Amino acid sequence: MNTRQLGTNGPRITEIGFGAWAVGGAWNFGWGKTDDTESIRAIRHGIELGINWIDTAAVYGLGHSEQVVGEAISGNRENVFLATKCGQVWDDRNRVRNFAGAASVRKELDASLHRLGTDHVDLYQIHWPDRSTPVEETWGEMIRLRDEGKTRFIGVCNFGVDLLQRCQALAPVQSLQPIYNILERDIEREIAPYCAQYGIGIVAYSPMQSGLLSGSFDRSRLAADDWRLVHSEKFREPRFSRDLKVVEQLRPIAERNGLTVGQLAVAWVLANGAVTSAIVGARRAEQVEQNVVAAGRDIPESDLQEIGHMISSDRGR
Ligand SMILES: NC(=O)c1ccc[n+]([C@@H]2O[C@H](COP(=O)([O-])OP(=O)(O)OC[C@H]3O[C@@H](n4cnc5c(N)ncnc54)[C@H](OP(=O)(O)O)[C@@H]3O)[C@@H](O)[C@H]2O)c1
Repeated sequence: MNTRQLGTNGPRITEIGFGAWAVGGAWNFGWGKTDDTESIRAIRHGIELGINWIDTAAVYGLGHSEQVVGEAISGNRENVFLATKCGQVWDDRNRVRNFAGAASVRKELDASLHRLGTDHVDLYQIHWPDRSTPVEETWGEMIRLRDEGKTRFIGVCNFGVDLLQRCQALAPVQSLQPIYNILERDIEREIAPYCAQYGIGIVAYSPMQSGLLSGSFDRSRLAADDWRLVHSEKFREPRFSRDLKVVEQLRPIAERNGLTVGQLAVAWVLANGAVTSAIVGARRAEQVEQNVVAAGRDIPESDLQEIGHMISSDRGR
């Protein structure tokens, strides 16, 4: 699979990374019940198909995703660029909050290493901004954890330019993980140009809008406790039907490129030169097999333009 360099002087990672949120199983922001054996098969199949990196987080399944990932890569750790996250902590009643105090972040990494069965991760990321802790405190601790060898690289997720600048003042940010897909293009205005200017890699999450852009999304098949039904406006009216109309408009473009709508959506993300990799979530091996097809697939400029017009006219922007 094609690789791209992650930020200035960074490693080469594959254009598609395996997103391990959904394999976390049931929790407040879970995707319903999952089958760990099937999840492990999906991760291993992804690696067989050439994916060289995995994105997980402590909070996914309240540690369960990291355990599943650890099991999937045991005996193969050195061949995987392993990314996880800190800054979303849970209490003894499993209530999650954003908190990234220095001591907490250090404790979180130790727990993640234990669950992942490794002595270091490759990329450690702040998951969400924590408005109660100065970012300098968190980033300072991330720098120390990197200097101690507990993580090779440090990055952030869901940060705007203001927070990126405050981190950059202390030490370069290796990567930013923002949402980016055909329906969510906010980073194009300010954030992606900033990252391109300062050599910050972009690893884009939810490239298929958490399945909505897969081309075969069926809301009636979701478990009652799936976060998409419980928490997300994107999967509720009026937005849901409006976005499914976009999927139907994308279908002929996908077909003439010999792709499914989901593959087109991932290839579209990769067509942005500021993007290093698309993190594609899956929990079945067959899904991964379909998704990897999008890597290395160039979409003609005329089709990219058509998609651009479709979205701007659809959103009235
Ligand atoms: N940093 C952050 O704040 C943040 C936030 C969100 C996500 N992420 C990362 O990004 C990763 C990907 O994002 P995401 O999981 O939201 O969304 P995504 O990659 O856009 O969509 C993944 C979902 O689409 C469905 N799917 C996957 N392949 C499919 C296929 N071939 N055909 C039909 N459906 C398919 C699956 O849902 P079903 O299993 O229901 O079919 C899958 O869980 C996450 O796993 C996580 O690592 C990070």
